[in-house]
Amino acid sequence: MKAPYQIQYEAFAAAGGIYTERHAQAYAQFAVDLIEEGSFSIVYEGVAHACYTPITIDAAPHLKCYVLAPMAVLPEYQGKGYATRLMEEAEKQLGADVIFVLGDPCHYATRYNAVHQVGFPVETQAPAECWFARELTPGVLQEAGKSTSSIRGVFANPKMWAEPSDDI
Ligand SMILES: CC(C)(COP(=O)(O)OP(=O)(O)OC[C@H]1O[C@@H](n2cnc3c(N)ncnc32)[C@H](O)[C@@H]1OP(=O)(O)O)[C@@H](O)C(=O)NCCC(=O)NCCS
Repeated sequence: MKAPYQIQYEAFAAAGGIYTERHAQAYAQFAVDLIEEGSFSIVYEGVAHACYTPITIDAAPHLKCYVLAPMAVLPEYQGKGYATRLMEEAEKQLGADVIFVLGDPCHYATRYNAVHQVGFPVETQAPAECWFARELTPGVLQEAGKSTSSIRGVFANPKMWAEPSDDI
């Protein structure tokens, strides 16, 4: 079975477009570092991998929240629902109130469709409209209202919040 590093590396190396070899190495290493630090890690059917790291909504610190990244599916298995099934399985295991993701609307806008006013946990030029939330406990984001957020460790590195088009 392929290790998380390999799944991440192969997916991003094959993605092309804005993603370069350096992105593939950086995201794969990011996954390894998050796992070492204790983030939740899931390999799904040997072909998909993702990490979920705790993040705090400062106005509602009692909520159990995670941010999803990086996520990857081996190139030959993409577009077949593996990422969707991985997210379903992870959500069953995590018992989260809210899961956030910063990413391409094509991949995330449907599933992560909660209206929210929670800021990024680090300074970033990333567009707020790509900062998605999925509410697993209905109503908690409206209750939290406008808030900052906080994150610690590897995921607090601003590089992890940079646009893929920025130098990495
Ligand atoms: C992004 C990625 C994880 C999606 O995995 P997948 O198994 O192909 O995704 P699924 O088949 O479960 O589809 C998930 C959603 O993404 C959409 N999607 C998947 N591939 C897509 C593509 N190439 N272009 C546009 N949308 C796409 C699907 O339509 C679906 O959207 P929906 O929920 O609105 O129906 C995978 O393509 C990948 O590893 N890509 C390279 C690495 C990467 O870009 N990671 C994400 C960085 S934000």
